[in-house]
Parts: sequence; C-alpha cells; structure tokens
Amino acid sequence: MSRTRFAAIILAAGEGSRLKSARPKVLHEIAGQPMIRHVIDALRPLDPAATVIVLGRDSDSVARAVAPLPSVIQSSPRGTGDAVRAARPALAAGLGDIADIVVLFGDTPLLRPETIAALLDARRRAPAAAVAVAGMLPSDPGPYGRLVLDPGRVDGDGAFLRIVEAKDASPDERAIGLCNGGIMAIDARHAFDLVDRIGNDNAKREFYLTDIVAIARAQGLLCRVAELPAEELLGVNTRAELAVAEALMQDRLRRRAMDGGATLIAPETVFLCADTRLGRDVVVEPNVVFGPGVRVADNVLIRSFSHLEGATIAAGAIIGPFARLRPGAVLESHVHVGNFVEVKATRLGAGVKASHLAYLGDSDIGAGTNIGAGTITCNYDGFNKFRTIIGEGAFIGSNTALVAPVTVGAGAYVATGSVVTSDVPADALTIARARQINKPGRAPELRARQRGDKGGKEKD
Ligand code: UD1
Ligand code: MG
Repeated sequence: MSRTRFAAIILAAGEGSRLKSARPKVLHEIAGQPMIRHVIDALRPLDPAATVIVLGRDSDSVARAVAPLPSVIQSSPRGTGDAVRAARPALAAGLGDIADIVVLFGDTPLLRPETIAALLDARRRAPAAAVAVAGMLPSDPGPYGRLVLDPGRVDGDGAFLRIVEAKDASPDERAIGLCNGGIMAIDARHAFDLVDRIGNDNAKREFYLTDIVAIARAQGLLCRVAELPAEELLGVNTRAELAVAEALMQDRLRRRAMDGGATLIAPETVFLCADTRLGRDVVVEPNVVFGPGVRVADNVLIRSFSHLEGATIAAGAIIGPFARLRPGAVLESHVHVGNFVEVKATRLGAGVKASHLAYLGDSDIGAGTNIGAGTITCNYDGFNKFRTIIGEGAFIGSNTALVAPVTVGAGAYVATGSVVTSDVPADALTIARARQINKPGRAPELRARQRGDKGGKEKD
C-alpha cells in the first residue's frame, strides 16, 4: 500500500498555568478566534487523513470549539510524549495508508500551511528521516528546548543528536541558539513505538515528546531538523506572548487585506478578525475595529472609529465615522450609516440613509428610506424582542420612536418627534405627538412666579 497522507495530532491538554486564567489556554483568542482554531485552519489546506485533538480533563469547552474534529482525553498532563500516546486509540484504525504523524501544539497560532508542508517535505526527502523537527532561531531562546547537533557533522544528515529542554540543559546547551519550534513529523511506522519508549527521568518528571530524537538515534534511525520561521512557531504561554502573537497576526491580516485591494490608511490602527473579508477598493480610515463575521463588498468607505461585528455590507456603502454595526446587520448597496448609529439584526435596503444618532434593531428597512436623527426602534419591552418593518421610500422624521411590533408602509411620512405605536399605512402622513400650544406673553409671568414675585412683574 502506498502511504501518501498524514495524520495530525494537536496537543492541547496542558494546564496553561502561566496564563493564570480560568479559561483553557487554547481558547484564548487571537484575531477573534481561539488559538487552536488557527492551528486547525493551518492544517485544512493540507487535507490531513485524520486530525485528533488531545484535551485535558474538564475541557468540554475546548471539545465544543474544535468539533466536529474528534478529541481524546489525556487523563493528567504528564507531558507532551504522554499526550501523543493518548491519541493512539483514535488513530489506530486508520493508520494503514498514513505516511506521517504530524504533532502540533494548540498554542502556536501563527503557524501557516506552507510551514507544515515544509516540515513534511523535510521528513520525506530521501533518505527519509524517522523524525523531522521544526528548528528555529528565536531572538530570545529562553525556555524553548534546544536542538543538539553533532559538532563534527553539523552540515549533513545525521548531525541531529537530541533535544534538551531548557530546564534540563547544561550551561553549554543553554547557549545553543537553535530551538525546538514544537512541531514534528514522525514516520507513522515508528511513531508510537518511539513514543512508548519515552521515560520521565527529567527536571519536570514529565514524558517529553522531545526525547524521541535520542530514542530514534539509538535505534539507528535518521532525524532531521527543518529550519522554519521563528515567528510562526511562537508558543503562547503567557499573556505577554498572547499580545505578541496578536500583534504579529494583525500585521499578517492587514497585509492580506491590502494585498486583496483594500486601502488601510493607517494599518497599524485597524484591528481585523481572522475571518474579516474586505473587497477591492474598500477604504478603511484610521481606528476601525472588526469583530468576527464581517463581509465587506467592493467600494465601501469605512470611516474612523467604527466598530463592526457580524455585518454584511454591499458595494458602495459609507459607514461612520463612529458607527456601530452589530451581528445581523445587512447593508445593501449604497447605504449610508453615519455617526452614532447602531444597527443590529436589521436589513437596510439599497440606498437607505441613517446619517446620525439612531438605534435600528430587529428591523427590516426598505430601499431608499430615510431615517432621521434620533430615530429609535423600541424593540424590547423588558421581556421580549419585537420587529419593526419599514417599507421602501419612507421618511422617518427626527426623534421618532417606533414601538415594535410595528409596520410603516412604503412611501409613508412620519413626522418628527412621533411615538409610533400602531401600524402606518403606505403613503400615509403620520403625526403621533402632542399638539403644540402657544400662550402669548406668558413667559415673563412664569419667570416671576419661579422667583416668588407675587406681583407677577419681571425685574431688571
Ligand atoms: C514545548 C517543548 C519545547 C519547545 C516548545 C515550543 C516539550 C517537552 N517541550 O515546551 O521543546 O521548545 O514546546 O513551543 O515538548 N500538552 C499536553 N499535555 C501535556 C503537556 C502539554 O497536551 O501533558 C500540550 C499543551 O497544551 C501545549 C503543548 O502540549 O499545547 C506544549 O506544551 P507546553 O507546556 O506549552 O510546552 P512548552 O513548555 O512550551
Ligand atoms: Mg508552549
């Protein structure tokens, strides 16, 4: 049988104690999605034959986040080698046509598909190695494992002797700059046999996956280092590293948006999510934040200080400055949403204008309608949410309260300051406010009364 495919094991059972968090480490977010989802996304284009996630006990939330991928439980975090062992039952049935087991860590969110592919190539390249390890040269090797090479043969195959964890390293070993990036490709025929031989005679009394290099060497098997970009192999263990990873990911996403034809006037001030999609000739002014689930078509202008989340925006729209689009906001072509306008679960038909100070929630607003400043859809009565439907070409005067459920027909004209509690027929003019009363000359009298001047005369 020809073995061409690989299976991936993603380790995510560690306690993540250095984050000092109640939340599992791999669920901490980078660019709006859990770290582990970035690792899964990096695998997807390579089409692994199987992917198994190794979780700790009490990590139902992680199992839900990675579903439908299968997960297995490592009963206690006894080290990365023990975690790989825990994955075996989930893979055993399908190992027949699998060439490699690729081990990844759930805490390396910057990994790209090309880098995983390079590691696989490094293992398979003739003469094929039993183990290929991602080597990197980080600016600060700190706590990373060090890759120990035979000084006599540093250039060729066969130089790679073993990996030593920083905590177990001698001062000479700690001075080595070449570090373990954490990902490995292992010949599937040897993988579990090698892993079974790992012991825990080390500083942390853990079963280190990294020991398999020395174990394979002792069996006369070849191990190889694939030098890969340190930036992608950044392992997030602390909040400070989380922030570094976020910054690197933001740079990558900004570049992707610009390469796709969007202008970011001050890219370093725009925050994107991993799934943000910007069309061509979109212009994003400084200080705009994109939450998850935003799709922006071509030729849209997003002005400063806008916050968008779960919104779909068609071509030609102008958003902001200071606009807030919340989940379920659907803006059809050439909509204008101006400053201090909040839109939630609402469709704005083509050409709708809501230029200032409004809350539009749980609504459907027909094409060409004009929403005046201060319009509020009163969608919540303290118990339930209700919808507001406005037809095409309507005019909603400033400071109108639309008390849902309510429908305003197409072409209707609602006068300023109305409190609309019942449906408005199409083309009706609706005035729903108290009539104004003018009392001539009564203002001075009123002022005098306020001052306690019984004579009712105004003083100078
Ligand atoms: C590990 C490597 C180190 C490498 C570094 C790269 C080992 C022994 N050390 O160290 O050489 O330089 O990554 O980032 O492999 N995990 C489990 N079960 C466990 C322990 C860990 O699933 O029992 C998971 C963690 O959730 C994490 C990954 O394995 O996703 C790595 O564990 P972590 O504790 O972060 O290892 P490092 O100390 O970073
Ligand atoms: Mg780590």
